[in-house]
Parts: sequence; C-alpha cells; structure tokens
Amino acid sequence: MFDLPSAELHLHIEGTLEPELIFDLAARNGVDLPYAGLQDLKDRYEFTDLQSFLDLYYSNMQVLRTEADFADMTRAYLRRAAAAGVRHAEIMMDPQAHLVRGVALETCVNGVASALADSEAEFGISTGLIAAFLRDRPAEEALEVLEALLAMDAPIIGIGLDSAEVGHPPSGFTAVYERARQAGLRRIAHAGEEGPPEYVREALDLLGVERIDHGIRCLEDDALVRRLVVEQVPLTVCPLSNVRLRAVDTLKDHPLPAMLERGLNVCVNSDDPAYFGGYVDDNFRQLEQTFGFSADQLATLAANSIRSSFIDGGRRDALL
Ligand code: ADE
Ligand code: ZN
Repeated sequence: MFDLPSAELHLHIEGTLEPELIFDLAARNGVDLPYAGLQDLKDRYEFTDLQSFLDLYYSNMQVLRTEADFADMTRAYLRRAAAAGVRHAEIMMDPQAHLVRGVALETCVNGVASALADSEAEFGISTGLIAAFLRDRPAEEALEVLEALLAMDAPIIGIGLDSAEVGHPPSGFTAVYERARQAGLRRIAHAGEEGPPEYVREALDLLGVERIDHGIRCLEDDALVRRLVVEQVPLTVCPLSNVRLRAVDTLKDHPLPAMLERGLNVCVNSDDPAYFGGYVDDNFRQLEQTFGFSADQLATLAANSIRSSFIDGGRRDALL
C-alpha cells in the first residue's frame, strides 16, 4: 500500500488490460489470440515509439466484447489504483476503438460506467469518465460519436484527444471541441508527447483545453513555457510511459525535474500502466529513486494532481 494520496488524471482504461486478464477474457469470449502464450505476449512489450505501442494496444482490445468485460477491466484498475494511493481518477476510454470492431457504444460505456458507479464505496476512489477521440481517424467520426454519447446521456464529464499524434494536429478537431463546450463538457487533449510545441498551443487556443496530457515537448519553446507557467495549465506527465515509448532515453533523462524547476503545473500519472511497467505508485517510487525527490516534492506533485482535477470542490478540499 502506497500512502501518498493523489488523483490520477491521465489514464486510458484500455491501457490497464493486464496480460493475464487479456488471456482470461479471450478464454471467456472464445477469442483466438495471436500469441503462443502469456510469455510470448509479455515479450512483445518492447516499444520503439508511440505507434508500435498503439498497434498492440488496439489489437489486444479484441478480447473486450461484453459489458461485463469492460466492468471487470475497470474494477481491476480501481483495485490496483487504490493500493497505489489514488483517491480520485479521471479515466479516458476510446469509444471509436470499440465501435470499429462492432462493439456498441452502450456496451463499452455502460460497462465502464457500472464499475465507476461503485468505485467510491468499493475502493474509496471518486471518478469521472472522459471520452477520448482518436486523432488519426476523421474528425467527422469523432463528432458523430460525441453526438451519440450526448443522445444516450452517457455519464461523461469531458472529452479528450489521443492516438497517433504527429501529422494529426489539434486544429482538425475544433468543431468537436466546440460541440463539447456547448454541451458543458470539460476538455483535455494529448499534445507535446511526440508532437511539436505548436500542438500544445493549438490545443489551448483552438480547442480551449483545460489540461494538456503529456506536454513534455513544451520545453523546446521558451515562450510557451512562460505562458504555461503564468496560466498554470496542468500538464499530466507520465514518466514511465515516456521512457517505454522512447520519448526520453532513460528515466534519468526525463524532463520532470526541469519542469518543476520552471514552475510548470505538473503531476504524475500512469497512462497505460499494464503496458509501461507501472501504476502511479511505481512512477512515484522510480522518480524518488532516480531523482532523489524529497517528501515535499512528492507531496507537491500529488497536491498538483488533486488541484488540477475536475473533482467537485468539497471532495477536493477533503483530499488536499
Ligand atoms: N492512447 C493510449 N495511450 C496513449 C498515449 N500515450 N498517447 C496517445 N494515445 C494513447
Ligand atoms: Zn495518454
């Protein structure tokens, strides 16, 4: 049990599908996996960049077929997150990744939502669900899915933008984000993970996002850093993810200490913990070992996460 209470703000629920659960769900649903066995799958968790990870991530989703599958995956994450000290989680899901395989929107949304509904009582974790749109698919499709989510009154608090970043700038998604704004939804987007600082600026100026997922490449642009500091835009940084997807060479080379030093509003998250070698507590522990962060610095990172959440005021105050 890790006892640094925090909020997890950058987490893809499909990225919590552990290898063992992939095999269990495949057996339950009669899915023939293209792996010789568990170890063969684990041996493939060696990525060269974001796309090499995304290929495996989307492929493994084929085991998710029923509401129960989505609920079981979500419950497994919440149980593990509680042990990691997470007290509030804002969880992204990728509806298009399921729709394209013939899984209904209701199946994935209701499955995840049913586990989230019990989360506070069962695990002591308050939650919010965020529908993330795939930036390497047409923006018109994202808008259609958003309309369908609104029509079914899906229990989402906001929208996000993820998948292959380079060549898919935020500017293509203005209509989707404008519709979300009108609908009263919170808005976040991945930017500056593999893409240039300009994508961070576009996400802020054209999409009106309230948080940036990753944002590490902002450091290449001094004017952007100054703006992010002045506006205290939250950056949901994922150190182990950046190492595993080779955005940085090793954890020692990670810019998190520099980001803190510059006064950026950063917090620590796990992104796709089943694929990247660790949950939030693992990220904190490895940061502590690598950089010798003090208890105060770790507490600042944890407090930043709670302050940067979309949690309601009363619970935020209770967690701080
Ligand atoms: N989808 C799941 N994880 C992602 C990441 N780290 N970047 C972009 N899209 C993702
Ligand atoms: Zn992410």
